[in-house]
Amino acid sequence: MATLAVYPGSFDPLTNGHVDIILRGARLFDRIVVAILLNAEKSPLFSMDERVEIAREVFKAQSNVEVDTFDGLLVDYVARRHAQVIVRGLRAVSDFEFEFQMALMNRRLDARIETIFMMPAEQYTYISSRLIKEVFTLGGRVHGLVPELVEARLQLKVRRDA
Ligand code: PNS
Repeated sequence: MATLAVYPGSFDPLTNGHVDIILRGARLFDRIVVAILLNAEKSPLFSMDERVEIAREVFKAQSNVEVDTFDGLLVDYVARRHAQVIVRGLRAVSDFEFEFQMALMNRRLDARIETIFMMPAEQYTYISSRLIKEVFTLGGRVHGLVPELVEARLQLKVRRDA
């Protein structure tokens, strides 16, 4: 049976840490779905359509990476897709507590689904979407930390607001 994995998140914006995990997942599983949570934040930097468009563009050459959106419970989405695995990235010990709680709650909700943690390459272990947004908004350089398309879209947003 083909193994389908779901990599859920807000991806506001997609970072090179996310890309690293997705490519690792694409090597490990038959198919990986990047599942973007709808309406996670009240005022996201990138709209849902922009986030979907960016992720589809970044992974257009990877035939076993799919980009989709979901709302409601993650386990319901995973079951609806007949996926077996949830993939989450673990950067540092600080991620562990929340990830541990989510994994066990998701297991309680649906024991058929396994959560698998993957570590990104070490140069990405300190990157988060929140930090990228903050650094960029305050005029800092995020080159090399996000895909080039994300960097270009961030610059467009700043120019539009100027
Ligand atoms: O990128 P993020 O913000 O770390 O992703 C968090 C996400 C989307 C994985 C989590 O908030 C989630 O699964 N939300 C869907 C609602 C849900 O199932 N909540 C219970 C989780 S135990």
